[in-house]
Formats: sequence, structure tokens, C-alpha cells
Amino acid sequence: MPLFLPDAQYPRTRLRRTRRHDWARRLVAETRLSVDDLIWPLFVVEGKGVRQEVTSMPGVARLSVDLLVEAAKRAADAGIPAIAVFPSVDASLKTPDAREAVNPDNLVCRAVAAVKQAVPALGIICDVALDPFNSDGHDGIVRDGYVVNDETVDILGRMAVVQAQAGCDIVAPSDMMDGRIGAIRDALEAAHLHDVQILSYAAKYASAFYGPFRDAVGSKAALKGDKKNYQMDPANSEEALREVGLDIAEGADMVMVKPGLPYLDIVRKVKDAFAVPTLAYQVSGEYAMMKAAAANGWLDWDKVCLESLACFKRAGADAVLTYAALEVAERLNK
Ligand code: PBG
Repeated sequence: MPLFLPDAQYPRTRLRRTRRHDWARRLVAETRLSVDDLIWPLFVVEGKGVRQEVTSMPGVARLSVDLLVEAAKRAADAGIPAIAVFPSVDASLKTPDAREAVNPDNLVCRAVAAVKQAVPALGIICDVALDPFNSDGHDGIVRDGYVVNDETVDILGRMAVVQAQAGCDIVAPSDMMDGRIGAIRDALEAAHLHDVQILSYAAKYASAFYGPFRDAVGSKAALKGDKKNYQMDPANSEEALREVGLDIAEGADMVMVKPGLPYLDIVRKVKDAFAVPTLAYQVSGEYAMMKAAAANGWLDWDKVCLESLACFKRAGADAVLTYAALEVAERLNK
């Protein structure tokens, strides 16, 4: 046997040994993506039998409540723990005071009640923010061109209560107003909704990756200006820890980082600093980016989709909101 190197120069430690075979790679894998890690965001519209494709999110559609219930059943059958429901509200119902947000019979409340009745064991998450109902397209009430904090927080508390009364298990404030977690917790307690959880979009950045979502819920056309005076500056990470710390102190049960892939450093910092349930949102723009590249044959969708979700787990996320949740769950179950 030829010797290529003097004995002492052969590496004793060869990290490739444990990479050589599939069984060995599986054995030493540090993290694993499972169906239990997936949350599926869904869009709901008025009507019956309505399915409206969202052009900028191939494979995603706005569904009327009857079809939403069907989708929820498929999610539960695939073992997905929870869905997140986002309403696309008719423009005629959007007002500067976003009053439809606190109507107990609004689209999202009816959708939640229908899903809860049909699939009681499936967790339901609702966004708490005014943008679907606000003619200004903002997450809060706009006065003199500025999103006012305390008045918005008051409405958000009432909004969370109507959603919870409709059967929502987890209210998820995505508005980034100061003090909203405490106010929502107080409002839920006052309404005897003690077991309703709060998932705080604690570190939510003012991101251009939300574009396709705003198409899906129809808030893009309405939106005046940007959301930089309430959502976080992508330049900051220490501020994310302050946001998370405050939200936990105010009573958040779980926290979220959003967007996902470009912000995995934040996920890791939050998980390390607080050791609380930490979720991440693979947002619409991330999904659209991968889909567009795959449609051009530039990326392999099946592979990048699973790889990107596995990276969330490695970064410390306990669960991930992803528009690909159902197809990923069905693949993981095979
Ligand atoms: C609304 C909300 C947004 C998203 C979730 N909730 C958009 C925004 O803040 O403008 C984005 C989700 C996505 O892009 O997939 N408050």
C-alpha cells in the first residue's frame, strides 16, 4: 500500500467519517425539522367556494371560509399544530378608525369560529394589528400623518378579545406599538380569557420582504408611507433584545422574530438571552424569492425549502411560520 504522506501527517481526526453514510449523518444530526415545528399562515376572503391565487406567492391563495375549513382539516390531518389566519377585507369596510377590527362578527372572527368548530384540536393564531381594517394601511390609527400609540393599543386590546371570544387560541400582536402586550393581557384577563396565549411579534423589522403579503391582504394599495416609525430598523439587534425583554415582562407566552432567514442572528440572540419559546416567520418575500428562482429553474424548490427551514431550527427557533407548511408536512410524513 503506497504511503502518500509520512505516518504522522495523516489526519487522525477526520470529520468526513461521520458524513460518509446517510445512517451516520442521521445519527449525528444536531437538529431536526419536524411537522410539530410548522405553523401555516392562511388568507381568508368573503364568499363561498372562492379561491383567489396570490400572483406574487405561487401556490398561495385567498380562501373563503368554507375552503379555509377544508385547508385547516388538511393541516390537522398532516399533524400541523397550528394555523395563522389573515383576513383580506373588502375595501368598503376599511375606515380611518379601523372599527371593523373590533366587530365580533368580522371576517376573521367568523373564519376562526368555523375552523374551531370543524377542527377543534387545531391551534388557531390571529394577528392583532389594524392594517387589514385601516384605510391608511397602517397597523395603528393615523393622526396627522403619525401612527398614534396609546389609542391604537386600546383598540388592539378590544380586537384581541373579540378574536379570542370567537375561538382564537393564540393572539399575535404584530403592530409593534409600545405597551401593547401588557394592555392585551389585561384586556384578556378582564374578559376571563385567562388561557388565551399571546405570541408577540416582539422583534419585527420594517422590512421590504413583506411586499407579497401586503398584496395578499390588499393593504399595499392603501398604505401611505412606510412603517419605520414603529417597526424596527434592520440595522439593530440590541434593540431586539430590549423589545423581547419588555414583551416577556408584560406577559408574552412566546416571542417571534420576523422576517426569518436574513434575521437568524436575532433568533439565536433571543433564544440564548431569554430561553423562552421563540418562533420565526419565513415571510412572504422569502417564499416568493425561492419560488421565483425555482420557477426559472435556478433553484431546486424541494431542497431549498427544506434547507431553509432546517436553518431556522439550527438558529434556535422552536417553530416556524411558513407558507410551505402543508407541503413540507406532507413530505416529512412520507
Ligand atoms: C401585519 C402583518 C404583516 C405581516 C404579518 N402581519 C405585514 C406588515 O407588517 O406590513 C407580514 C407577513 C409576511 O410578509 O409574510 N401587521
